[in-house]
Amino acid sequence: GLPEYSPAVVIGTGYGAAVTALRLGEAGIPTVMLEMGQLWDTPTADGSVFSPMLSPDKRSMWLKDRSEMPLASFLWIDINTNIERYAGVLDRVHYGDMSVYLGRGVGGGSLVNGAMAVTPRRSYFEEILPGVDADEMYGTYFPRANTALRVNDIDRGWFEDCDAYQYARLSRKHAEKAGYRTTFVPSVYDFDYMRREEAGEVPRSALDSEVIFGNNHGKRSLDKTYLAAALGTGNVTIKTLQEVRDIRRGADGTYRLTVRELDETGGVVARREMGARHLFLGAGSIGSTELLLRARDTGTLPGLGEEIGQGWGPNGNVMLGRANHAWDLTGTLQSGMPALGIDAWDDPDNPVFAEIAPMPAGVELWVSLYLAITKNPARGRFTYDPASDSARLHWTAEQGQASIDAAKVHFDRINGVNNTVYRHDLFGDTRAFENRFTYHPLGGAVLGEATDLYGRVKGYDNLYVTDGALIPGSTGVNPFVTITALAERNVDRVLAEDIRR
Ligand code: FDA
Repeated sequence: GLPEYSPAVVIGTGYGAAVTALRLGEAGIPTVMLEMGQLWDTPTADGSVFSPMLSPDKRSMWLKDRSEMPLASFLWIDINTNIERYAGVLDRVHYGDMSVYLGRGVGGGSLVNGAMAVTPRRSYFEEILPGVDADEMYGTYFPRANTALRVNDIDRGWFEDCDAYQYARLSRKHAEKAGYRTTFVPSVYDFDYMRREEAGEVPRSALDSEVIFGNNHGKRSLDKTYLAAALGTGNVTIKTLQEVRDIRRGADGTYRLTVRELDETGGVVARREMGARHLFLGAGSIGSTELLLRARDTGTLPGLGEEIGQGWGPNGNVMLGRANHAWDLTGTLQSGMPALGIDAWDDPDNPVFAEIAPMPAGVELWVSLYLAITKNPARGRFTYDPASDSARLHWTAEQGQASIDAAKVHFDRINGVNNTVYRHDLFGDTRAFENRFTYHPLGGAVLGEATDLYGRVKGYDNLYVTDGALIPGSTGVNPFVTITALAERNVDRVLAEDIRR
Protein backbone atom coordinates (compact mmCIF):
# COMPACT_ATOMS: atom_id res chain seq x y z
CA GLY A 1 0.00 0.00 0.00
CA LEU A 2 0.90 3.65 -0.08
CA PRO A 3 2.67 5.35 2.78
CA GLU A 4 0.44 8.13 4.04
CA TYR A 5 3.05 10.86 3.89
CA SER A 6 6.38 11.51 2.21
CA PRO A 7 8.48 14.68 2.38
CA ALA A 8 8.57 14.67 -1.43
CA VAL A 9 6.19 13.10 -3.93
CA VAL A 10 6.84 13.02 -7.68
CA ILE A 11 3.88 12.28 -9.97
CA GLY A 12 4.90 10.24 -13.02
CA THR A 13 8.16 8.52 -14.00
CA GLY A 14 8.99 10.14 -17.36
CA TYR A 15 11.99 12.41 -18.05
CA GLY A 16 11.17 15.37 -15.81
CA ALA A 17 10.03 13.11 -13.00
CA ALA A 18 13.07 10.80 -13.19
CA VAL A 19 15.59 13.66 -13.08
CA THR A 20 13.80 15.22 -10.13
CA ALA A 21 13.61 11.97 -8.15
CA LEU A 22 17.29 11.18 -8.70
CA ARG A 23 18.45 14.58 -7.49
CA LEU A 24 16.07 14.54 -4.49
CA GLY A 25 17.26 11.05 -3.60
CA GLU A 26 20.92 12.07 -3.86
CA ALA A 27 20.18 14.99 -1.53
CA GLY A 28 18.84 12.55 1.04
CA ILE A 29 15.17 13.47 0.66
CA PRO A 30 12.78 10.51 1.02
CA THR A 31 10.79 10.55 -2.22
CA VAL A 32 7.82 8.56 -3.48
CA MET A 33 7.06 8.38 -7.22
CA LEU A 34 3.47 7.60 -8.23
CA GLU A 35 3.08 6.08 -11.71
CA MET A 36 -0.26 5.10 -13.26
CA GLY A 37 1.34 2.55 -15.63
CA GLN A 38 3.12 -0.72 -14.92
CA LEU A 39 6.72 -1.72 -14.33
CA TRP A 40 7.98 -3.34 -17.54
CA ASP A 41 10.61 -5.82 -16.40
CA THR A 42 8.97 -9.25 -16.39
CA PRO A 43 8.85 -11.55 -19.41
CA THR A 44 5.52 -13.26 -20.05
CA ALA A 45 4.89 -16.73 -21.49
CA ASP A 46 6.43 -15.81 -24.88
CA GLY A 47 9.70 -14.97 -23.14
CA SER A 48 9.58 -11.23 -23.79
CA VAL A 49 8.57 -8.20 -21.74
CA PHE A 50 6.96 -6.18 -24.52
CA SER A 51 4.52 -7.06 -27.30
CA PRO A 52 5.89 -7.90 -30.73
CA MET A 53 5.64 -4.87 -33.00
CA LEU A 54 4.06 -6.48 -36.05
CA SER A 55 1.51 -8.62 -34.19
CA PRO A 56 0.48 -6.45 -31.25
CA ASP A 57 -1.05 -8.13 -28.21
CA LYS A 58 -2.63 -6.72 -25.05
CA ARG A 59 0.71 -5.38 -23.82
CA SER A 60 0.88 -2.95 -26.74
CA MET A 61 -1.72 -0.38 -25.72
CA TRP A 62 -3.16 1.36 -22.68
CA LEU A 63 -6.76 0.20 -22.16
CA LYS A 64 -7.81 -0.16 -25.80
CA ASP A 65 -9.79 -2.84 -27.61
CA ARG A 66 -7.89 -2.28 -30.83
CA SER A 67 -4.34 -1.27 -31.71
CA GLU A 68 -3.94 2.33 -32.89
CA MET A 69 -0.90 2.52 -35.15
CA PRO A 70 0.38 5.90 -36.39
CA LEU A 71 0.21 4.59 -39.94
CA ALA A 72 -3.49 3.79 -40.12
CA SER A 73 -3.41 1.84 -43.36
CA PHE A 74 -1.35 0.41 -46.21
CA LEU A 75 -2.86 0.44 -49.68
CA TRP A 76 -5.87 1.76 -47.75
CA ILE A 77 -6.18 -1.51 -45.84
CA ASP A 78 -6.59 -0.99 -42.09
CA ILE A 79 -3.51 -2.49 -40.43
CA ASN A 80 -4.85 -2.38 -36.86
CA THR A 81 -6.02 -5.46 -34.98
CA ASN A 82 -8.25 -6.24 -32.03
CA ILE A 83 -6.50 -6.65 -28.70
CA GLU A 84 -7.49 -7.42 -25.14
CA ARG A 85 -8.07 -4.37 -22.92
CA TYR A 86 -5.06 -4.11 -20.63
CA ALA A 87 -2.73 -1.61 -18.96
CA GLY A 88 -0.30 -1.72 -21.89
CA VAL A 89 2.58 0.61 -22.66
CA LEU A 90 1.40 2.99 -25.42
CA ASP A 91 -1.57 5.32 -25.10
CA ARG A 92 -3.24 7.47 -27.72
CA VAL A 93 -5.43 10.20 -26.26
CA HIS A 94 -8.02 11.66 -28.65
CA TYR A 95 -9.09 15.30 -28.73
CA GLY A 96 -11.03 16.08 -31.92
CA ASP A 97 -8.55 17.16 -34.59
CA MET A 98 -5.52 16.11 -32.53
CA SER A 99 -4.52 12.92 -30.80
CA VAL A 100 -1.49 12.50 -28.61
CA TYR A 101 0.72 9.41 -28.26
CA LEU A 102 2.08 8.80 -24.75
CA GLY A 103 4.11 6.19 -22.93
CA ARG A 104 2.54 4.58 -19.84
CA GLY A 105 4.71 2.74 -17.38
CA VAL A 106 7.85 3.17 -15.32
CA GLY A 107 9.92 5.34 -17.66
CA GLY A 108 7.01 7.16 -19.37
CA GLY A 109 7.74 8.09 -22.98
CA SER A 110 11.22 6.54 -22.81
CA LEU A 111 9.59 3.09 -23.09
CA VAL A 112 7.98 3.74 -26.48
CA ASN A 113 9.94 6.50 -28.15
CA GLY A 114 12.38 6.43 -31.05
CA ALA A 115 15.36 7.13 -28.74
CA MET A 116 16.47 10.14 -30.80
CA ALA A 117 18.43 12.29 -28.38
CA VAL A 118 18.80 15.71 -29.95
CA THR A 119 20.09 18.87 -28.31
CA PRO A 120 18.23 21.82 -29.82
CA ARG A 121 19.96 24.55 -31.75
CA ARG A 122 21.03 27.18 -29.25
CA SER A 123 19.52 30.09 -31.16
CA TYR A 124 16.11 28.40 -31.21
CA PHE A 125 16.31 27.42 -27.54
CA GLU A 126 16.95 31.10 -26.74
CA GLU A 127 13.93 32.05 -28.83
CA ILE A 128 11.47 29.67 -27.12
CA LEU A 129 12.75 30.12 -23.55
CA PRO A 130 14.30 33.60 -23.43
CA GLY A 131 14.15 33.69 -19.63
CA VAL A 132 16.55 30.76 -19.28
CA ASP A 133 20.31 31.37 -19.15
CA ALA A 134 21.51 29.59 -22.31
CA ASP A 135 25.19 29.70 -21.23
CA GLU A 136 24.28 27.66 -18.19
CA MET A 137 22.12 25.25 -20.22
CA TYR A 138 24.71 24.60 -22.93
CA GLY A 139 27.66 24.69 -20.52
CA THR A 140 26.23 22.53 -17.73
CA TYR A 141 22.75 21.08 -18.07
CA PHE A 142 22.64 19.77 -21.66
CA PRO A 143 25.97 17.98 -21.14
CA ARG A 144 24.74 16.62 -17.78
CA ALA A 145 21.53 15.32 -19.40
CA ASN A 146 23.35 13.71 -22.34
CA THR A 147 25.74 11.92 -19.99
CA ALA A 148 23.07 10.63 -17.61
CA LEU A 149 20.83 9.52 -20.49
CA ARG A 150 23.86 7.66 -21.94
CA VAL A 151 23.44 9.14 -25.41
CA ASN A 152 25.63 7.53 -28.09
CA ASP A 153 26.48 8.13 -31.76
CA ILE A 154 26.29 5.65 -34.60
CA ASP A 155 29.54 4.34 -36.07
CA ARG A 156 29.69 6.06 -39.47
CA GLY A 157 31.52 3.22 -41.15
CA TRP A 158 28.93 0.69 -40.01
CA PHE A 159 26.09 2.99 -41.03
CA GLU A 160 27.41 3.12 -44.59
CA ASP A 161 27.71 -0.65 -44.84
CA CYS A 162 24.86 -2.19 -42.89
CA ASP A 163 21.57 -3.48 -44.26
CA ALA A 164 19.49 -1.96 -41.46
CA TYR A 165 19.97 1.65 -42.66
CA GLN A 166 19.63 1.13 -46.41
CA TYR A 167 16.31 3.01 -46.08
CA ALA A 168 18.08 6.00 -44.52
CA ARG A 169 20.87 6.01 -47.13
CA LEU A 170 18.25 5.99 -49.89
CA SER A 171 16.40 8.96 -48.35
CA ARG A 172 19.72 10.76 -47.95
CA LYS A 173 20.52 10.20 -51.63
CA HIS A 174 17.16 11.66 -52.66
CA ALA A 175 17.53 14.62 -50.28
CA GLU A 176 21.08 15.41 -51.36
CA LYS A 177 20.05 15.33 -55.01
CA ALA A 178 17.62 18.15 -54.16
CA GLY A 179 20.36 20.11 -52.41
CA TYR A 180 19.50 19.19 -48.81
CA ARG A 181 21.88 18.41 -46.00
CA THR A 182 21.36 15.44 -43.68
CA THR A 183 22.66 15.03 -40.18
CA PHE A 184 23.22 12.03 -37.92
CA VAL A 185 20.95 11.86 -34.89
CA PRO A 186 22.39 10.77 -31.52
CA SER A 187 20.41 8.08 -29.72
CA VAL A 188 19.81 6.35 -26.41
CA TYR A 189 19.55 3.04 -28.27
CA ASP A 190 22.85 1.19 -27.85
CA PHE A 191 24.31 1.27 -31.39
CA ASP A 192 26.92 -1.31 -30.47
CA TYR A 193 24.13 -3.70 -29.48
CA MET A 194 22.40 -2.95 -32.80
CA ARG A 195 25.55 -3.80 -34.70
CA ARG A 196 25.66 -7.14 -32.88
CA GLU A 197 21.97 -7.66 -33.76
CA GLU A 198 22.77 -7.38 -37.43
CA ALA A 199 25.71 -9.76 -36.98
CA GLY A 200 23.33 -12.30 -35.42
CA GLU A 201 25.15 -12.35 -32.07
CA VAL A 202 22.33 -11.15 -29.78
CA PRO A 203 18.52 -11.21 -29.75
CA ARG A 204 17.05 -8.63 -32.10
CA SER A 205 15.00 -5.64 -30.99
CA ALA A 206 15.52 -2.53 -33.20
CA LEU A 207 16.22 -4.97 -36.04
CA ASP A 208 13.06 -6.90 -35.16
CA SER A 209 10.97 -3.77 -35.89
CA GLU A 210 10.52 -2.94 -32.20
CA VAL A 211 9.88 0.64 -31.12
CA ILE A 212 6.45 2.08 -30.23
CA PHE A 213 5.25 -0.92 -28.21
CA GLY A 214 8.55 -1.12 -26.30
CA ASN A 215 12.02 -2.50 -27.00
CA ASN A 216 12.86 -5.89 -25.52
CA HIS A 217 16.60 -5.15 -25.83
CA GLY A 218 19.09 -2.42 -26.62
CA LYS A 219 17.32 0.71 -25.47
CA ARG A 220 18.60 2.78 -22.56
CA SER A 221 15.16 3.79 -21.35
CA LEU A 222 14.83 5.72 -18.08
CA ASP A 223 14.36 2.57 -16.00
CA LYS A 224 17.94 1.69 -17.01
CA THR A 225 19.42 5.18 -16.44
CA TYR A 226 17.92 7.92 -14.23
CA LEU A 227 15.38 5.72 -12.44
CA ALA A 228 17.89 2.96 -11.70
CA ALA A 229 20.20 5.61 -10.25
CA ALA A 230 17.33 7.14 -8.26
CA LEU A 231 16.46 3.77 -6.71
CA GLY A 232 20.18 3.28 -6.03
CA THR A 233 20.21 6.27 -3.67
CA GLY A 234 18.05 4.25 -1.30
CA ASN A 235 15.73 7.22 -0.83
CA VAL A 236 13.36 6.79 -3.77
CA THR A 237 10.38 4.43 -3.99
CA ILE A 238 8.33 3.86 -7.16
CA LYS A 239 4.67 2.85 -6.81
CA THR A 240 2.97 1.55 -9.96
CA LEU A 241 -0.68 1.46 -11.08
CA GLN A 242 -1.25 4.56 -8.94
CA GLU A 243 -3.14 7.27 -10.77
CA VAL A 244 -3.20 10.65 -9.06
CA ARG A 245 -6.57 12.35 -9.53
CA ASP A 246 -6.92 15.27 -7.11
CA ILE A 247 -4.57 17.67 -5.38
CA ARG A 248 -5.51 19.89 -2.47
CA ARG A 249 -3.76 21.63 0.36
CA GLY A 250 -4.14 20.76 4.04
CA ALA A 251 -4.37 23.32 6.85
CA ASP A 252 -0.72 22.52 7.74
CA GLY A 253 0.44 23.55 4.26
CA THR A 254 1.16 20.03 3.02
CA TYR A 255 -0.35 18.68 -0.18
CA ARG A 256 -2.97 15.93 -0.08
CA LEU A 257 -3.39 13.68 -3.08
CA THR A 258 -6.27 11.43 -3.97
CA VAL A 259 -4.85 8.37 -5.71
CA ARG A 260 -6.67 5.63 -7.60
CA GLU A 261 -5.06 2.24 -7.39
CA LEU A 262 -5.66 0.43 -10.69
CA ASP A 263 -5.64 -3.21 -11.70
CA GLU A 264 -4.18 -4.51 -14.96
CA THR A 265 -7.44 -3.95 -16.83
CA GLY A 266 -7.78 -0.37 -15.66
CA GLY A 267 -10.34 -1.08 -12.94
CA VAL A 268 -10.14 1.01 -9.77
CA VAL A 269 -9.38 -1.36 -6.89
CA ALA A 270 -8.83 1.22 -4.17
CA ARG A 271 -8.79 4.94 -3.53
CA ARG A 272 -6.15 6.29 -1.18
CA GLU A 273 -4.90 9.55 0.22
CA MET A 274 -1.28 10.56 0.35
CA GLY A 275 0.44 13.64 1.78
CA ALA A 276 3.60 15.51 0.76
CA ARG A 277 5.40 18.68 1.73
CA HIS A 278 7.01 19.16 -1.69
CA LEU A 279 4.96 18.04 -4.69
CA PHE A 280 6.51 17.65 -8.15
CA LEU A 281 4.31 17.18 -11.23
CA GLY A 282 6.04 15.04 -13.83
CA ALA A 283 2.95 13.51 -15.44
CA GLY A 284 3.84 15.01 -18.85
CA SER A 285 2.33 17.87 -20.86
CA ILE A 286 -1.12 16.27 -20.86
CA GLY A 287 -1.03 14.71 -17.39
CA SER A 288 0.41 17.60 -15.39
CA THR A 289 -1.77 20.15 -17.15
CA GLU A 290 -4.90 18.10 -16.47
CA LEU A 291 -4.06 17.72 -12.76
CA LEU A 292 -3.59 21.49 -12.37
CA LEU A 293 -6.69 22.40 -14.37
CA ARG A 294 -8.85 19.99 -12.39
CA ALA A 295 -7.48 21.39 -9.12
CA ARG A 296 -8.13 24.97 -10.19
CA ASP A 297 -11.60 24.46 -11.65
CA THR A 298 -12.96 22.13 -8.97
CA GLY A 299 -11.69 24.57 -6.37
CA THR A 300 -9.17 22.35 -4.56
CA LEU A 301 -6.32 24.73 -5.53
CA PRO A 302 -8.32 27.87 -6.31
CA GLY A 303 -5.27 30.14 -6.37
CA LEU A 304 -3.99 28.68 -9.67
CA GLY A 305 -3.98 31.23 -12.48
CA GLU A 306 -5.37 31.61 -15.97
CA GLU A 307 -2.01 30.59 -17.46
CA ILE A 308 -2.68 26.94 -16.59
CA GLY A 309 -3.71 25.11 -19.77
CA GLN A 310 -2.19 27.68 -22.17
CA GLY A 311 0.67 27.48 -24.65
CA TRP A 312 0.26 23.93 -25.93
CA GLY A 313 1.74 22.72 -29.22
CA PRO A 314 2.48 19.46 -31.09
CA ASN A 315 6.09 20.48 -31.90
CA GLY A 316 4.93 21.03 -35.49
CA ASN A 317 4.75 17.26 -36.16
CA VAL A 318 3.77 16.13 -39.68
CA MET A 319 4.17 12.62 -41.06
CA LEU A 320 4.40 11.76 -44.75
CA GLY A 321 5.51 9.02 -47.10
CA ARG A 322 7.08 9.10 -50.57
CA ALA A 323 6.73 6.33 -53.16
CA ASN A 324 10.08 5.16 -54.50
CA HIS A 325 10.98 3.86 -57.94
CA ALA A 326 11.11 0.09 -58.34
CA TRP A 327 14.92 0.13 -58.53
CA ASP A 328 15.33 2.21 -55.35
CA LEU A 329 15.11 -0.35 -52.55
CA THR A 330 14.67 0.63 -48.89
CA GLY A 331 15.51 -2.93 -47.79
CA THR A 332 13.55 -5.58 -45.96
CA LEU A 333 15.60 -5.12 -42.78
CA GLN A 334 14.97 -1.67 -41.30
CA SER A 335 16.16 -0.52 -37.90
CA GLY A 336 13.25 0.71 -35.80
CA MET A 337 15.52 3.48 -34.49
CA PRO A 338 15.98 6.45 -36.81
CA ALA A 339 19.58 7.61 -37.22
CA LEU A 340 19.45 10.40 -39.79
CA GLY A 341 17.50 13.63 -40.33
CA ILE A 342 17.09 16.09 -43.18
CA ASP A 343 18.12 19.42 -41.70
CA ALA A 344 16.39 22.36 -43.35
CA TRP A 345 15.93 24.28 -40.10
CA ASP A 346 17.98 27.21 -41.44
CA ASP A 347 15.49 27.82 -44.24
CA PRO A 348 14.27 31.33 -43.34
CA ASP A 349 10.71 30.79 -44.60
CA ASN A 350 10.02 27.15 -43.83
CA PRO A 351 12.28 25.72 -41.13
CA VAL A 352 11.94 21.92 -41.07
CA PHE A 353 13.86 19.12 -39.39
CA ALA A 354 12.65 15.83 -40.89
CA GLU A 355 13.68 12.58 -39.33
CA ILE A 356 14.01 9.71 -41.77
CA ALA A 357 11.68 7.14 -40.24
CA PRO A 358 11.67 3.39 -40.79
CA MET A 359 8.76 1.38 -42.14
CA PRO A 360 9.89 -1.89 -40.62
CA ALA A 361 7.35 -4.32 -42.06
CA GLY A 362 9.95 -6.96 -42.95
CA VAL A 363 9.17 -6.74 -46.67
CA GLU A 364 10.11 -4.21 -49.36
CA LEU A 365 7.39 -1.53 -49.53
CA TRP A 366 9.12 1.06 -51.74
CA VAL A 367 8.14 3.73 -49.23
CA SER A 368 10.30 6.44 -47.66
CA LEU A 369 8.70 7.69 -44.47
CA TYR A 370 9.37 10.93 -42.58
CA LEU A 371 8.38 12.64 -39.36
CA ALA A 372 8.87 16.35 -39.97
CA ILE A 373 9.25 18.81 -37.12
CA THR A 374 8.19 22.26 -38.29
CA LYS A 375 8.13 25.71 -36.72
CA ASN A 376 4.44 26.48 -36.36
CA PRO A 377 3.56 29.37 -34.03
CA ALA A 378 -0.08 28.23 -33.54
CA ARG A 379 -0.87 27.20 -29.96
CA GLY A 380 -3.71 25.23 -28.44
CA ARG A 381 -5.13 25.43 -24.95
CA PHE A 382 -6.81 23.10 -22.49
CA THR A 383 -10.02 23.64 -20.57
CA TYR A 384 -11.52 21.49 -17.81
CA ASP A 385 -14.66 19.56 -18.72
CA PRO A 386 -16.67 18.83 -15.56
CA ALA A 387 -18.88 16.20 -17.24
CA SER A 388 -15.93 13.90 -18.01
CA ASP A 389 -13.75 15.24 -15.17
CA SER A 390 -10.91 15.61 -17.67
CA ALA A 391 -9.00 18.19 -19.67
CA ARG A 392 -10.05 19.01 -23.20
CA LEU A 393 -7.57 20.20 -25.81
CA HIS A 394 -8.65 22.96 -28.16
CA TRP A 395 -6.65 22.51 -31.36
CA THR A 396 -7.99 22.57 -34.93
CA ALA A 397 -6.75 21.06 -38.16
CA GLU A 398 -6.42 24.61 -39.52
CA GLN A 399 -3.91 25.40 -36.79
CA GLY A 400 -1.80 22.54 -38.08
CA GLN A 401 -1.98 23.64 -41.74
CA ALA A 402 1.16 25.81 -41.55
CA SER A 403 3.13 22.68 -40.61
CA ILE A 404 1.89 20.84 -43.69
CA ASP A 405 2.62 23.84 -45.91
CA ALA A 406 6.20 24.04 -44.64
CA ALA A 407 6.89 20.32 -45.03
CA LYS A 408 5.33 20.35 -48.50
CA VAL A 409 7.73 23.01 -49.80
CA HIS A 410 10.70 20.74 -49.11
CA PHE A 411 9.23 17.37 -50.05
CA ASP A 412 7.74 18.79 -53.28
CA ARG A 413 11.31 19.77 -54.16
CA ILE A 414 12.66 16.32 -53.25
CA ASN A 415 9.91 14.62 -55.27
CA GLY A 416 10.43 16.99 -58.21
CA VAL A 417 14.16 16.32 -58.49
CA ASN A 418 13.77 12.56 -58.07
CA ASN A 419 10.61 12.14 -60.15
CA THR A 420 8.76 10.59 -57.22
CA VAL A 421 5.34 11.17 -55.69
CA TYR A 422 3.67 11.13 -52.27
CA ARG A 423 1.93 8.04 -50.87
CA HIS A 424 -1.78 8.65 -50.38
CA ASP A 425 -2.71 5.35 -48.75
CA LEU A 426 -1.05 5.56 -45.34
CA PHE A 427 -3.30 7.66 -43.12
CA GLY A 428 -6.73 6.09 -43.42
CA ASP A 429 -7.95 8.27 -46.34
CA THR A 430 -6.19 9.87 -49.32
CA ARG A 431 -4.25 12.60 -47.57
CA ALA A 432 -0.49 12.76 -48.19
CA PHE A 433 0.34 14.61 -44.94
CA GLU A 434 -0.78 13.54 -41.48
CA ASN A 435 -0.83 16.26 -38.81
CA ARG A 436 -3.68 14.96 -36.67
CA PHE A 437 -1.43 13.22 -34.19
CA THR A 438 1.70 14.12 -32.30
CA TYR A 439 4.46 12.24 -30.52
CA HIS A 440 5.70 15.50 -28.99
CA PRO A 441 3.04 17.18 -26.82
CA LEU A 442 4.57 20.27 -25.21
CA GLY A 443 3.20 23.04 -22.98
CA GLY A 444 0.15 23.61 -20.82
CA ALA A 445 2.03 24.92 -17.78
CA VAL A 446 4.64 27.07 -19.48
CA LEU A 447 7.87 28.12 -17.76
CA GLY A 448 7.78 31.78 -16.77
CA GLU A 449 4.00 31.94 -17.25
CA ALA A 450 2.14 29.25 -15.28
CA THR A 451 5.30 28.80 -13.20
CA ASP A 452 8.25 30.99 -12.31
CA LEU A 453 11.50 30.55 -14.25
CA TYR A 454 12.32 27.35 -12.29
CA GLY A 455 9.03 25.49 -12.53
CA ARG A 456 7.52 26.70 -9.24
CA VAL A 457 3.78 26.89 -9.83
CA LYS A 458 2.50 30.45 -9.40
CA GLY A 459 0.15 30.95 -6.48
CA TYR A 460 1.48 28.08 -4.32
CA ASP A 461 4.76 27.27 -2.67
CA ASN A 462 6.38 23.80 -2.68
CA LEU A 463 4.45 22.88 -5.86
CA TYR A 464 6.44 22.32 -9.06
CA VAL A 465 6.10 21.29 -12.72
CA THR A 466 9.11 19.32 -14.00
CA ASP A 467 8.16 17.98 -17.44
CA GLY A 468 7.24 18.78 -21.04
CA ALA A 469 4.34 20.96 -19.85
CA LEU A 470 6.95 23.68 -19.19
CA ILE A 471 8.00 24.01 -22.83
CA PRO A 472 5.88 26.38 -24.93
CA GLY A 473 4.73 24.05 -27.71
CA SER A 474 7.92 23.64 -29.75
CA THR A 475 11.59 22.69 -29.45
CA GLY A 476 12.43 22.35 -33.15
CA VAL A 477 13.88 18.88 -32.51
CA ASN A 478 12.75 15.73 -30.68
CA PRO A 479 12.12 17.01 -27.16
CA PHE A 480 13.32 14.61 -24.46
CA VAL A 481 16.88 15.94 -24.13
CA THR A 482 15.47 19.45 -23.65
CA ILE A 483 12.94 18.24 -21.05
CA THR A 484 15.72 16.37 -19.21
CA ALA A 485 18.19 19.27 -19.21
CA LEU A 486 15.57 21.79 -18.10
CA ALA A 487 14.52 19.49 -15.25
CA GLU A 488 18.20 19.20 -14.19
CA ARG A 489 18.50 22.99 -14.11
CA ASN A 490 15.26 23.54 -12.22
CA VAL A 491 15.82 20.90 -9.55
CA ASP A 492 19.30 22.30 -8.85
CA ARG A 493 17.74 25.63 -7.96
CA VAL A 494 14.81 24.14 -6.04
CA LEU A 495 17.12 21.96 -3.93
CA ALA A 496 19.35 24.91 -3.12
CA GLU A 497 16.65 27.46 -2.35
CA ASP A 498 13.51 25.60 -1.26
CA ILE A 499 14.55 22.29 0.26
CA ARG A 500 18.03 22.45 1.77
CA ARG A 501 17.43 25.89 3.31
P1 FDA B 1 6.30 11.48 -20.02
O1 FDA B 1 5.08 11.48 -20.87
O2 FDA B 1 7.51 10.80 -20.52
O3 FDA B 1 5.96 10.80 -18.61
C1 FDA B 1 4.78 11.05 -17.90
C2 FDA B 1 4.47 9.85 -17.02
O4 FDA B 1 3.48 10.21 -16.07
C3 FDA B 1 3.94 8.64 -17.78
O5 FDA B 1 4.64 7.49 -17.36
C4 FDA B 1 2.48 8.58 -17.36
O6 FDA B 1 1.95 7.26 -17.31
C5 FDA B 1 2.51 9.18 -15.97
N1 FDA B 1 1.26 9.83 -15.57
C6 FDA B 1 0.49 10.67 -16.29
N2 FDA B 1 -0.56 11.10 -15.58
C7 FDA B 1 -0.45 10.51 -14.35
C8 FDA B 1 -1.26 10.56 -13.16
N3 FDA B 1 -2.36 11.31 -13.09
N4 FDA B 1 -0.87 9.80 -12.10
C9 FDA B 1 0.26 9.02 -12.16
N5 FDA B 1 1.05 8.95 -13.26
C10 FDA B 1 0.69 9.70 -14.33
N6 FDA B 1 11.21 12.32 -28.07
C11 FDA B 1 12.52 12.40 -28.40
O7 FDA B 1 13.22 13.29 -27.91
N7 FDA B 1 13.05 11.50 -29.30
C12 FDA B 1 12.29 10.53 -29.90
O8 FDA B 1 12.81 9.72 -30.67
C13 FDA B 1 10.91 10.46 -29.57
N8 FDA B 1 10.09 9.54 -30.18
C14 FDA B 1 8.80 9.36 -29.70
C15 FDA B 1 8.02 8.31 -30.18
C16 FDA B 1 6.77 8.05 -29.61
C17 FDA B 1 5.93 6.92 -30.12
C18 FDA B 1 6.29 8.87 -28.54
C19 FDA B 1 4.96 8.63 -27.89
C20 FDA B 1 7.06 9.93 -28.08
C21 FDA B 1 8.31 10.18 -28.65
N9 FDA B 1 9.11 11.22 -28.17
C22 FDA B 1 10.40 11.34 -28.59
C23 FDA B 1 8.61 12.16 -27.16
C24 FDA B 1 9.12 11.91 -25.74
O9 FDA B 1 8.99 10.55 -25.39
C25 FDA B 1 8.34 12.81 -24.77
O10 FDA B 1 8.58 14.16 -25.15
C26 FDA B 1 8.74 12.62 -23.33
O11 FDA B 1 8.53 11.30 -22.91
C27 FDA B 1 7.98 13.56 -22.40
O12 FDA B 1 8.57 13.50 -21.13
P2 FDA B 1 7.79 14.02 -19.86
O13 FDA B 1 8.72 13.98 -18.70
O14 FDA B 1 7.16 15.32 -20.17
O15 FDA B 1 6.58 13.00 -19.61
